[in-house]
Amino acid sequence: MTAVRGYDVRTFADAASLDRTAADLIVDRSRSAAAERGTFSVALSGGMTPRGLYGLLALSPYRENIEWNTVHVFWADERSVPPDHEDSNYRLAHDLLLSKVPLPQDHIHRIRGESDPASAAAAYDDELRSFFGSAGATFDLVLLGIGADGHTASLFPGDAALAETRRLAVPVPATGNRLARVTLTLSAINRARAVLFLATGESKAKVIHDILDDGNPQGYPAGLVRPERGRVLWYLDNGASRFLRTPA
Ligand code: 6PG
Repeated sequence: MTAVRGYDVRTFADAASLDRTAADLIVDRSRSAAAERGTFSVALSGGMTPRGLYGLLALSPYRENIEWNTVHVFWADERSVPPDHEDSNYRLAHDLLLSKVPLPQDHIHRIRGESDPASAAAAYDDELRSFFGSAGATFDLVLLGIGADGHTASLFPGDAALAETRRLAVPVPATGNRLARVTLTLSAINRARAVLFLATGESKAKVIHDILDDGNPQGYPAGLVRPERGRVLWYLDNGASRFLRTPA
């Protein structure tokens, strides 16, 4: 682990070792959160990168080492599609993980992709406030990915969602090649106790270099994830860390 601009950065030779270390971290965090507060609240992301991790958490020894009745699962973002749609982030996590572990059904706090985005965002905001109380949102862990354009969750460069300071979740309008979505806002993510970015592949190496080595002069959304009190960890494979000046 190397500290770079206040981030904890680790690089891995391959995706399998990255996934194992991320699974170990989730086991540790879930156990300590449950011991301290009785629950472990985690926000999951979609995309390709976390698939291996989700699959692993459903297997031994990880599965047995998580106290599933203390776990509450949320999402960082969701596309405007029904929960059984192949683009649904809920479906991704459900198929690979949630359907395979003894997680109580009422601990699954999904974003209603089947509703119109504004109502789904408002309902999710309400659900977060009722779960976390007036503090708004204090996830024990937010799991994020990053796009080659610097987006994270469904916070895209230049979008109005980036400026939101009051709401915890907002709708993100569709564009030419993008479905409408709902996303956690930076103000929700930045209250987290810990954030873990997973990134694999060379397509992300440039933006990761800009954020980690150069301090995000372009203002990429992923680089705006800086929790006031929590740590930000970056787990990178060789491809994603290729241009890092500071070896991790
Ligand atoms: C999603 C996301 C999104 C994702 C990045 C990286 O649902 O697509 O939450 O922010 O994490 O686009 O995606 P990949 O892992 O597929 O590269």
